[in-house]
Amino acid sequence: MAGSFAFLHSDQASLVLECRADGPPLWRHLGARLDPGMLTPLALSRTAASFSLDRDEPVSTAPRAGLGWFGSEALRLRQAGSALIPAFETADVTQSDTAIHIVLNDHQTGIELRQSIELLAGGAFRFTAELVNAASHPVEVDWLASALIPLPPYSAALLSWRGRHNAELVEQVEPMPQQAWLREGRRGISGHGGPPGVVVLGEGAGHHSGLVHALQLAWSGDSSIAVERDDEGFWILNAGARFDPGEIVLGPGERIATPAAILAVSTAGRNGALAQHHAAIRAAVDWPGGTMRRRPVHLNSWEACYFDHDETRIGALAEAAAAIGVERFILDDGWFRGRNNDDAGLGDWTADPVKYPAGLTPLAQRVRAMGMEFGLWVEPEMVNPDSDLYRAHPDWALHLPGRDQPTARNQLVLNLALPEVQEYLFGALDALLREVPISYLKWDHNRDLAPAGGAAQVLGTYRLLARLRAAHPSVEIEGCAGGGGRSDAGLVPFVHRFWTSDNIDAVSRVRVQRGFLSFLAPELMGAHIGASPAHATGRSQSLGFRAAVAMPGHFGVELDPRQLDEADRIELAGWIAFHKQWRHLLHGTMTWLGEGADGLVWQAAGTAAEFLLFAIRTAPALDRRPQPLCLPFLAKSGSCTIELLRIAGAEGGHAAHLPALFDAPVPFTGSWLANSGLPLPPLKSESVAIFHGTVAP
Ligand code: GLA
Repeated sequence: MAGSFAFLHSDQASLVLECRADGPPLWRHLGARLDPGMLTPLALSRTAASFSLDRDEPVSTAPRAGLGWFGSEALRLRQAGSALIPAFETADVTQSDTAIHIVLNDHQTGIELRQSIELLAGGAFRFTAELVNAASHPVEVDWLASALIPLPPYSAALLSWRGRHNAELVEQVEPMPQQAWLREGRRGISGHGGPPGVVVLGEGAGHHSGLVHALQLAWSGDSSIAVERDDEGFWILNAGARFDPGEIVLGPGERIATPAAILAVSTAGRNGALAQHHAAIRAAVDWPGGTMRRRPVHLNSWEACYFDHDETRIGALAEAAAAIGVERFILDDGWFRGRNNDDAGLGDWTADPVKYPAGLTPLAQRVRAMGMEFGLWVEPEMVNPDSDLYRAHPDWALHLPGRDQPTARNQLVLNLALPEVQEYLFGALDALLREVPISYLKWDHNRDLAPAGGAAQVLGTYRLLARLRAAHPSVEIEGCAGGGGRSDAGLVPFVHRFWTSDNIDAVSRVRVQRGFLSFLAPELMGAHIGASPAHATGRSQSLGFRAAVAMPGHFGVELDPRQLDEADRIELAGWIAFHKQWRHLLHGTMTWLGEGADGLVWQAAGTAAEFLLFAIRTAPALDRRPQPLCLPFLAKSGSCTIELLRIAGAEGGHAAHLPALFDAPVPFTGSWLANSGLPLPPLKSESVAIFHGTVAP
């Protein structure tokens, strides 16, 4: 094995490990694709360094922390209160064109570590690890990395996302740290900063070119993603689920598997990385029937009527939804026993006898008779102290003996690790899905976890979702946590959409959605036309601008159409029809993000042959005339024809200023559009120019 290499090659990247028997495989390369050729052992080229240990410890997949490795650790273990320090030898490395499997053993401690790296269709690498306690004593696991990888010494910047309720996914750019950078989640959910992930930009990398490493964890709970400078001059990225001390104890023979880390290594900039993540996500979605069908246009009742509804009012809202072309009607919070505000009711999952005296079945049947699917909001992991469930089982809520249970939105969190809680929730939801013709659940989670539920809580939620999906495979599920508090790849195998944010203000949404798309695919991105003024911000925007910003996602409406005047209702129906006309180009296809001059941002979606382009202006232009918009994704295309379909938003004035160029579809070459740019019409603040492009084969 000594001197042999294991490697994986995607279109853009290569991953090379050097195998050896007396230690874990060494990291030799994780970057741009290499030509096949002679690989030299590291020992032949590695210089000696002063003040260093005599036994060299270069970065490997599981460096010998405590025995000569002073950097970031792949695992931290304890036994009977003391550090347990394995020194792994490589027992086995197997490799195919698409996977490397490594088995590491430490005979003294009896610890075995299995690491796998898979090359996914689409080009991303998927890292997982499994730790086995083959010893005769329990072992505490404080840390087990999903992936520990070296980043190139010429890395330039880190992109990450922060957030809070109503302000998800705010992009941050920081230089590479001189010491360490840490993004740690301790709220029990992945949080409003979006998927647990980080993007590392190589020198000069941007949306369209350059080397980019982008990692996201497929995990919905606490996580830790660290980037540490190594004193050899490069950085180590160390990512995994975060455990509390003593939380994970492996008895003899027991094992623990990490969540997967999905790593895109792109030489085509951020858009190349985004494409690899979208492919990985798409491969993980479990669509009813095996493939995605056209995403139905939603109307969600929440901002139309909040808790204030009953069968008559919701029936009328559904009629109004059907009349404008909505395809799936979702009854949000407020339908179950005692739920007139957020003080009470969570846990009691039967219809409120006052609001829905005959249950939900007549309403659901009526909605279906209108030609729409019926969806329902639930928040299974939660319980209000004012509920029959809590009164019967106060001990089912997460608690620390002798401590207060902090409420949030007047609710507590059920302990999903308890089998009786699993049984109760499965029984309640299964009964609902059996009795009422429900095609869709919006599965909410409206608070942080305190006390913590740990990994067991996350796995309990996954288990419940998996069981429900198996029992009701045709039901789609939307993940939600106060908007986008739990949008992550960990939930992707169980859900079909995420509610991106409770902030539907279209200016805010531009930024939030671009963050979402950095890791997750547009067909999973719940994007609604909300009311004006927006409930979350109080800002008013035109219907066209709201519609155009929502257009690329899984489209929907979050207002009462009956409160619009006739002209607006007709316009809204027109935007729904527009979405139906173009959604085949928006979902399951390529997405490209970019920035133009003077604050303009753009987004395109489509195939090699056809695309829609959205040029989005959220603030007034400074320049006298708009600069052409360079579209690097077309650089290799031959001839392209571009048609301006619409300018959405900021009523008045645009048409008068439209250059004659846009009177008819305009022929260009791809290289012109990539390098010289598409001439743009003037755009007022809060407007979107929507173009259709066709590319000649
Ligand atoms: C959360 C969701 C909203 C809505 C409410 C209902 O805040 O994000 O969309 O469902 O809960 O209480």
